[in-house]
This record gives sequence, structure tokens and C-alpha cells, in this order.
Amino acid sequence: QKNVGILAMDIYFPPTCIQQEALEAHDGASKGKYTIGLGQDCLAFCTEVEDVISMSLTAVTTLLEKYGVDPKQIGRLEVGSETVIDKSKSIKTFLMQIFEECGNTDIEGVDSTNACYGGTAALFNCVNWVESSSWDGRYGLVVCTDSAVYAEGPARPTGGAAAIAMLIGPDAPIAFESKFRGSHMSHVYDFYKPNLASEYPVVDGKLSQTCYLMALDSCYKRFCNKFEKLEGKQFSISDADYVVFHSPYNKLVQKSFARLYFNDYLRNASSVEEIAKEKLGPFSALSGDESYQSRDLEKATQQVAKHLYDAKVKPTTLLPKQVGNMYTASLYAAFASLLHNKNSTLAGQRAMMFSYGSGLSSTMFSFQLREGQHPFSLSNIATVMNVAGKLKSRHEFPAEKFVETMKLMEHRYGAKDFVTSKDCSLLAPGTYYLTEVDSMFRRFYAKK
Ligand code: ACO
Repeated sequence: QKNVGILAMDIYFPPTCIQQEALEAHDGASKGKYTIGLGQDCLAFCTEVEDVISMSLTAVTTLLEKYGVDPKQIGRLEVGSETVIDKSKSIKTFLMQIFEECGNTDIEGVDSTNACYGGTAALFNCVNWVESSSWDGRYGLVVCTDSAVYAEGPARPTGGAAAIAMLIGPDAPIAFESKFRGSHMSHVYDFYKPNLASEYPVVDGKLSQTCYLMALDSCYKRFCNKFEKLEGKQFSISDADYVVFHSPYNKLVQKSFARLYFNDYLRNASSVEEIAKEKLGPFSALSGDESYQSRDLEKATQQVAKHLYDAKVKPTTLLPKQVGNMYTASLYAAFASLLHNKNSTLAGQRAMMFSYGSGLSSTMFSFQLREGQHPFSLSNIATVMNVAGKLKSRHEFPAEKFVETMKLMEHRYGAKDFVTSKDCSLLAPGTYYLTEVDSMFRRFYAKK
């Protein structure tokens, strides 16, 4: 099969959100800490009528409808999520309701879990399936769905929530360059969820930042090596038109891009400008460990790479800044932002993708973008996703109401025998919502 990749996408995020400025004031954080310090604008969250299952039901249904795909045409369905609702029953099996209705129960695939990396694992599984001898000619479907919530404290403003559905097949406008993947996997305790009674993770914030940057360096080196071996020429970020990052919060994305530029400098890439070489010279002798701790290096690299960040990264930052960390969906929401902002000029260009999941697993890979054919074209994907419309029709909650919702959700997590308010007044028509969890923990959903 040629040009296997993403044919179609849709994204769903809760219409309920809180401005970071309001949260900052409520938390008593210094002004600008969340908006400039973390680089975030707004945070979306699930109220008691939404969860990762309802969001993914919505994303899958709307994708099938809006692109006119018959549910019988799906042969593999993979879900990436780190939001555990059941330790055995996969989210994929909940989504089977949509397909059973049409008489299609012949669908391979289950859930993949490792922090924010599960969506990428699911995506690779689907792409590999289409490229394999067990492919039966039907589409693959990947769903990334997460609700990122943190206990009160410095990590809370880095929450978010969303579900993304992606249709996988040959002749895709978003085609994988499968040969150039670079991965880095390792055993660390930077962010994990050992307490099965709580939705909140245990986070070593500082360690998670360093792990992310070390994984980025490692993946980038491997990606470059593979590219150079296969193409016979050096790779540098000048060969990527856009660089898309997993985005826990925007400040880390800014630092990450600068870090790639520093890598190019250390590898003596010809694309690094003379003025930048001068500015980075004083840091060339730093050891790896020292380089992760150096504030001066961070500042210098961000400064010399600023114009490249504006061109290659900024167009990918809209949804991650507006919605927050969407865990498995974060990287693909960043990519959706790129499609939203640049869809008419992307054909023929390359996007680099960096996926990171704490614990840790990470991969750098790339897409070759092509115009595609309706309905599977870049411009139609942007139209269907309607990012601007969805952002505009949100409802801002005051901080007190957000905190109250978080408290209620703490009680609801893992609970049984309750009915929700069934209040779907804020949800768009066609959105699924949770109505009841019965005495056997069975969950029931309705569609608005
Ligand atoms: N105005 C402007 N900037 C400010 C202000 C202010 N008033 N106050 C603080 N800042 C800056 C700080 O200088 C810092 O920026 P820098 O990194 O460029 O120095 C930034 O705001 C954050 O402040 P810190 O005090 O360094 O960190 P904090 O204790 O607030 O924690 C953290 C931030 C670690 C990101 C926390 O939110 C967290 O643990 N989040 C979850 C973990 C996470 O997302 N890790 C990333 C990878 S793993 C994953 O994807 C889950």
C-alpha cells in the first residue's frame, strides 16, 4: 500500500472551560505564572456528564457521519488513553455500540496505555495493520481520548480534556514516512498513576520536564541517523516545514524546539546561522546533564531559534494553549491546529511529530502532506474539524465552579449507583453524555 496514513480527523473537547487568568487569580499564583510562565490560555474540563467514553463516542460518530464513512468499512479500531475507567473492559468495547448497530462486529484492536503515548501506539498499530499481509482492505480507526486532571497545586493548571478520531488507510493526505522513526524508551518515575482509587497522577514535575527533553534529544538523534543512512544527506530542522510536539503546556514546547536547534548546532548542521553559532559557542562544552539545567543555555537557544519557532511551531499551538494538556490527544490536537491554520499551503510539506508519554516512551516520526481527494483532503479535514467554531461556542466557568466540579469528580471516580444531572444544555447537538452508573458499575450514555 502506498502513502498509508491519516485520511480524516475529527476532534471533540468539552465546551466547559476556565481561563488561565481566572485560575491564576483564584490560586493566588503571581500574575502571568500560568499565562506566560506556562504559556497557557485556557483549560477545558469534563463536568459530571462527560468522560473519556462519552467524548470518544462523540468523536467517532461525528467522524463517520461527516466524512460519509459506513461503519461496516472499519476493520480495526484502536484506542489510546491513560484515563482508566475499567481495569479490564477496554474503551474500544464501549465504542463497539456504534458498530454493532450496523451489524459490524468484525473489528480488531483494543486499548493501548502508557501515559500520553497510548495514542501514538494505537496509531502505529493501525498503520502497520494497513501495511501488513493481514489487512483486509477496510479502514483503521484510531481514537485518542483523555481527561487530564491534577490535584490542587502547581500541576492543576496543566490539565485539559479532548478526544480525537483519525481514519487510517492508503493514499492518505497525511502520509507516514515510516522509515524515519526514532524512539527512546526507559524506566523512570516522572509521572505515574499508582493510586487506583484516584484519577490524579503522582508527578515529579521537574523530573518530567528533564525526561521529556532527554527523550526529545535521543529521538531526534535517532531520527537524524536513520534519515542520513537512507537519504545519504544530513537532516536538520530546516528539512521540516513544521515541528509538532506533545504539549503538556506551551512553555515546554518553546524550550523543546530551542533544544532541537541546539542539537543541530552541536551536530554542526550547515543550516545553523553564523550569528547563532556565536551565541551558542559558550555552551558547546557543557555535559548533557549540565545542559538540561542551564538557564542561560535555555534563554540563548530560545532567542536564536525564535524566528524559526514562529514559522515552524507557532501554527501548531492553538488547541494545546486553548484546551490544555489532552494527554494522548495532545500531539494530534497540535497537528489539528496546524491543519486549521495552514491547510491551503501544506501540500508537499513535511511535519515532524514528537510523541512523549511519561514512564517513559517516546517516538519522533514524520508526515508527508498531500492535498488528497475529497472528502479526504487537507482542506476538508480542516472544515470538518471546525476548530474556530468549537472554540467560539465554549462556556467559561468561574474558578469556584471549576474547583467544585473537580471535587464532585473526585467522588464520582470509581463510584457506582448514581445518576447524573443529565443536564446537557451546554453540549452541542449530537454530543454523547453520561446519564447513570448502576449498582453493577455499568455505565449508560445518551446522545443529545
Ligand atoms: N510571570 C511569568 N512567568 C512566571 C511567573 C510570573 N509571574 N511565575 C513563574 N513563572 C515561570 C517560571 O519562571 C517557570 O518558567 P521557566 O520554566 O521558563 O523558568 C514557569 O513559570 C513555571 O514555574 P515553576 O515554578 O518552574 O514550576 P511550577 O512549580 O509552577 O510547576 C510544572 C510547573 C512542573 C510544569 C507543573 O505544572 C507540573 O508538574 N505539571 C505536570 C507535569 C507535566 O506536565 N510535565 C511535562 C511532561 S510529562 C506530561 O506530559 C504529563
